[in-house]
Amino acid sequence: MKLSIAVLPGDGVGPEVTREAVRVLRAVSDFAGYDFHFEELPIGGQAALDFGSPFPEQTRERCLASSAVLLGAVGGPQFDSLPNDLRPEAGLLALRQALGCFANLRPAIAYQSIADCSPLRPERILGANILIVRELLGGLYFSEPRAIDAAARCAFNTMRYSEHEIERVARVAFKLAQGRRKKLVSVDKANVLETSRLWRQVVTYLASEFPDVSLEHALVDSFAMNVITNPTRYDVVLTENLFGDILSDEVSVIAGSLGMLPSASIGGRVDLYEPIHCSAPDIAGRAIANPIGAIASAAMLLRHTAKLQAEADCVEVAIEQVLNSGMRTADLLPPGDLESAASTTAIGLRIAEATVEALHSRTSYFAV
Ligand code: IPM
Ligand code: MG
Repeated sequence: MKLSIAVLPGDGVGPEVTREAVRVLRAVSDFAGYDFHFEELPIGGQAALDFGSPFPEQTRERCLASSAVLLGAVGGPQFDSLPNDLRPEAGLLALRQALGCFANLRPAIAYQSIADCSPLRPERILGANILIVRELLGGLYFSEPRAIDAAARCAFNTMRYSEHEIERVARVAFKLAQGRRKKLVSVDKANVLETSRLWRQVVTYLASEFPDVSLEHALVDSFAMNVITNPTRYDVVLTENLFGDILSDEVSVIAGSLGMLPSASIGGRVDLYEPIHCSAPDIAGRAIANPIGAIASAAMLLRHTAKLQAEADCVEVAIEQVLNSGMRTADLLPPGDLESAASTTAIGLRIAEATVEALHSRTSYFAV
């Protein structure tokens, strides 16, 4: 098994968490005798300062020539004064567009051992396992026209969706639902937006191809309330770009911390894997960031790109074991409790070890 992985650490805590994800991938590769090759490339604010672009040409070329891209995070207050086209976020959006990955998968699981880390009552969240499928290349993020019109003293963005854009991401969501609890909720704002009315029509039409999946439509405002009140009710959630951005941060509360959530962006020329959290500049360089979102993204890479199901399962089992053992980064502890917090590297090392143990017991003839 040969895999060339473009590693884009980016800004803030990006390099710290990505290092741990790479550590775990290396452990898998070494254990199984695979040939994983990693190449580090610049992206984001620091790339804009060093190379004059938040998504340098060389990064684009190398990413497109890779089997998968693993990204940390981009952004930070020191880049706020950069012009719009040099902003770190513009680099990330250009990367997503260049790769063509239109379906962004964001799973949120309420792990039993950290259920008490959520501000929600444990009995409400236990058993919750939600997969958000966010459309990633359309809507307000990319549609034209968009501008700041200083003369008219206004600014505007456009939300545009074509049937094709809706259908291709909806198809991904239906297929994923088939492999899970067969429940799909499509979230829109069809009582106000034309794009949402089209969205609903296309999704409803497509549902006839997936008779085993039960489809429900929900308005984004009431869904935002229901998903947090009764998270176990939901399985796969399909939604457009901006709603998906907002709802995935909300749903991370179920998992205990934003730092827990991974993502996979698929459907294009090359798949992209990144934790959903931002660059967290306030804690960057302090070795306290939670690497689990990044490591779980690496597990998704093993599953979706490399088709290494057993290896992906072992990384996920290792994450759960390490959480069960009581090890926690600061985001999963009461505020100010840095004393008992494990460092980013300590968690990464432990998950890498536990992954190898899990792989070993799977392959042992003496495994019970
Ligand atoms: C995310 C982030 C990005 C987004 C930003 C950094 C551009 O919030 O991946 O959720 O809005 O998509
Ligand atoms: Mg976001």
